[in-house]
Amino acid sequence: MSDPPNVYARWAALYDSVADLPVLRSWRARAADALDLSAGDTVVEMGCGTGANVPVLRRRVGAGGRVVGVDLTREMLAQARAHDDRTGDGVHYLLGDATRPPVDSADAVLATFVAGVFADPAAAVDAWCDCVAPGDRVALLNFQRSRNPLATPVNVAFEGFVRLSAPGTRLSRQSHADAFERRVTAARDRLAERTVDRRYETFAGGYLGLVSGRVE
Ligand SMILES: C[S@@+](CC[C@H](N)C(=O)[O-])C[C@H]1O[C@@H](n2cnc3c(N)ncnc32)[C@H](O)[C@@H]1O
Repeated sequence: MSDPPNVYARWAALYDSVADLPVLRSWRARAADALDLSAGDTVVEMGCGTGANVPVLRRRVGAGGRVVGVDLTREMLAQARAHDDRTGDGVHYLLGDATRPPVDSADAVLATFVAGVFADPAAAVDAWCDCVAPGDRVALLNFQRSRNPLATPVNVAFEGFVRLSAPGTRLSRQSHADAFERRVTAARDRLAERTVDRRYETFAGGYLGLVSGRVE
């Protein structure tokens, strides 16, 4: 279970207004690419928020595929349902806890800007890997501290990203960013244990990390 996501309820409309900024769209497309989706697939997005990934996922699974978004916050899903390009045939939103996914099976699982909100991210990743069959991919996209030598002095930007994407989570007041990064690392470590054929890429000056793997 994550910390209470009430903050997402309060800020759903504001979140929605930034979730689909053009710069984010290219990152979302890369995350979708990491899943190696085929036409007709079912892809589940954990913590789908306002559904900003849905258009890119939908394009990849085609008219015969399914995109299933799971989120614990009713208000975030209401925003998703208000967009024409995030609704329609083959798109389903489920109000539920992504640490106990309300889905039987999928061909791929995506989680963007989500791993840092869970108290036990490794358990969440385990549950996601259990949703897919051996050979299917799971991908995690998250903010991280940049290792780029030019960026290191301004890693303060990372702190800002963390506060934007995990605003109300009960992490250490002294180092919100450290605690957030530990959660993301725990999620990635568990994905590494559960998968083969792993890929890791960074973008946005090293501030974003995309990790994916094929479940064994
Ligand atoms: C930072 S937003 C990310 C939204 C979306 N993935 C994106 O890329 O824009 C985090 C989302 O996780 C959801 N969330 C938090 N805890 C959750 C849980 N246990 N199960 C499902 N969703 C959860 C919140 O409601 C929120 O919509």
